[in-house]
Amino acid sequence: MCAPEHFEVSYAINPWMRPDRWQQEGALLGARSSSGWERLVATLRGLGVELEFAVPHAGLPDMVFTANAAVVLDGKALVATFRHPQRQGETPVFRRTFDALKDRGLLTEVHDMPEGVVLEGAGDCVWDPVRRTFWLGYGQRSDKAAAPVVRDLFGMEVEALELVDPRFYHMDTCLCPLTGGEVLYFPGAFSAEGNARILERFGAENLIVAPEPDACTLAVNAVNLGRDIVLATASPALRGMLTERGYRVHETPVSDFGLSGGSAFCLILKLDRTSK
Ligand code: ARG
Repeated sequence: MCAPEHFEVSYAINPWMRPDRWQQEGALLGARSSSGWERLVATLRGLGVELEFAVPHAGLPDMVFTANAAVVLDGKALVATFRHPQRQGETPVFRRTFDALKDRGLLTEVHDMPEGVVLEGAGDCVWDPVRRTFWLGYGQRSDKAAAPVVRDLFGMEVEALELVDPRFYHMDTCLCPLTGGEVLYFPGAFSAEGNARILERFGAENLIVAPEPDACTLAVNAVNLGRDIVLATASPALRGMLTERGYRVHETPVSDFGLSGGSAFCLILKLDRTSK
């Protein structure tokens, strides 16, 4: 994770970002997002998670969204590259962060993306632990050409799906594979072809469709640890769908990060993910 010390909405690279609102209410929003982030830290620790922290950088407000820092599996980190100039400064900073984690034995390999190929980390390359497959989103931020890079480095299957709705610009905003084999997702974010692929790979019985209002509070951007699901807010309908399947839902006050287009899943990056 990376503390929101320098978090702000000073530019707009997705439809949720409102620098004008931040200018008016920045002090309040800054304080609220910090306390919400602290609550997320406490919630994760309460679930037994051990945390590592990247050093925040002034001028890189979106560094707080560490899901975008890299794709990590089996001790290997593939450091992200970014579509927009506003985030491109994060790549060398995160490269140093991952090198330091490797020096401490928390990772075994750190790799860079090939020149000219964008992959915005785990935010656009979501791991499905049951099918042992990466779900890669392209068309908004990451390039489709990132799929073979991921496939070759990690030796895992990659399903690349086009993201067609600008509100759901990263795969993790609209698709969340769960440990029980289900997928929480928002069908409107995908093309007809993408929806067909999701149905084929997950099976109808495993589809949990997020109601649009929940998709718009970024509820799909959830952290799933075993039977626990940590998210910003869930409507009674969504909560019911998840608890019925045996999940415990933990609401955590990270909604203010929604003003930047992010939520719980974006705020973390799992370092100990394995394919086994
Ligand atoms: N403002 C950030 C951006 O537009 C938000 C990133 C949220 N991260 C995520 N994995 N969805 O890039």
